[in-house]
Amino acid sequence: MSTTHPLIYDNHGRPIQYLRLAVTDRCNLRCFYCMPEEGIPYLPKKQLLSYEEMLRISTVLAGLGVRKVRITGGEPFVRHDLTKFLYQLSDIEGIEEIAITTNGVLTQKYIPDLKKIGIKTINLSLDSLDRQRFYDITRRDEFTKVEACLYELLEAGFEVKVNAVVMEGRNIEDLIPLARLTEKYPVSVRFIEEMPFNGEGSHYPILHWTYRRILDHLKTEFPDIQKQIDPLNSTAYHYQIPGFEGNIGIIAAFSRTFCGTCNRIRMTAQGTLKTCLYDDGVMDVRDLLRKGISDEELTLKFIQAFRNRPKDGYEAEQLRSTSVHESMTTIGG
Ligand code: GTP
Ligand code: 5AD
Ligand code: SF4
Repeated sequence: MSTTHPLIYDNHGRPIQYLRLAVTDRCNLRCFYCMPEEGIPYLPKKQLLSYEEMLRISTVLAGLGVRKVRITGGEPFVRHDLTKFLYQLSDIEGIEEIAITTNGVLTQKYIPDLKKIGIKTINLSLDSLDRQRFYDITRRDEFTKVEACLYELLEAGFEVKVNAVVMEGRNIEDLIPLARLTEKYPVSVRFIEEMPFNGEGSHYPILHWTYRRILDHLKTEFPDIQKQIDPLNSTAYHYQIPGFEGNIGIIAAFSRTFCGTCNRIRMTAQGTLKTCLYDDGVMDVRDLLRKGISDEELTLKFIQAFRNRPKDGYEAEQLRSTSVHESMTTIGG
């Protein structure tokens, strides 16, 4: 876990330190904001990166200064032997932090392993505290498992961030109850602007719940909510309700206000490099690996891609060949 590798900067002076690695495109939920009801055609197994390929990519990127890896999906725990892979990932020199974003349906039984691996933060997707509304959003009746997972993660001492996508007509009643979770628990509850990454394209002609409107809504119940200092490279604006244990975040994922300090890159489950969430993929790393590229050549390819990053999500969107519509389950969020 030593930090020996120098940082690499992109063409806008931003260091690349954070890899979001999607380990699968499969998911056991069907969230409205992520997939159509019938799901999306999953890729054949062979087209997904193997764990060996992911370890190799992570090692090369650690050599370029990547220090944090966030495991995403699909739902990461749907992939077999995930914890074995995480143990191996944690052994890579230079990787100082591993985090996971999960929907919490299968997560509970892996909690002891996650502790042993040294994972400290888990981001849990939970858009409603009401079983029926949870069902309506995710199209699966798994609320009780996810709720139990939340409390067990807190009990086990993880730093937990609850992710709630804010959706007109679906979970507005939940915003205040979700914010109230921060009263007794040291949890971060983050409200996220909905993006059109749902396999279909935009659900609405305009975004109803912008980060400003979400904040105004919270102020109606908590007028003395206070702004906190945001950590560098954070996607969230942080707030706290005086006297409460936890904090509240608002993520302007659609408004893209935080691109100026973006230190993240993504590998999709099929091995495509994305240097912005809003681009449509800039390099087929799986293909390069399977054609026998050396680590040195791959390093140079990554450097080249980092030197061509769009300055923000708007520029990345403009450069796309198709509109933003793909499912988040293929990207990893
Ligand atoms: P940490 O800062 O490591 O806790 O990660 P995070 O909060 O960014 O990760 P998480 O997987 O919990 O994602 C929360 C929300 O932020 C999701 O809706 C993501 O899609 C969104 N998000 C994460 N990274 C980006 C990004 O680079 N751009 C945009 N626009 N949204 C992002
Ligand atoms: N808009 C905003 N956030 C989304 N997520 C998934 N799809 C969307 C979307 N269309 C979030 C999930 C998960 C995180 C990785 O991305 O809530 O917590
Ligand atoms: Fe599954 Fe996450 Fe997509 Fe929901 S947002 S369907 S939990 S991949």
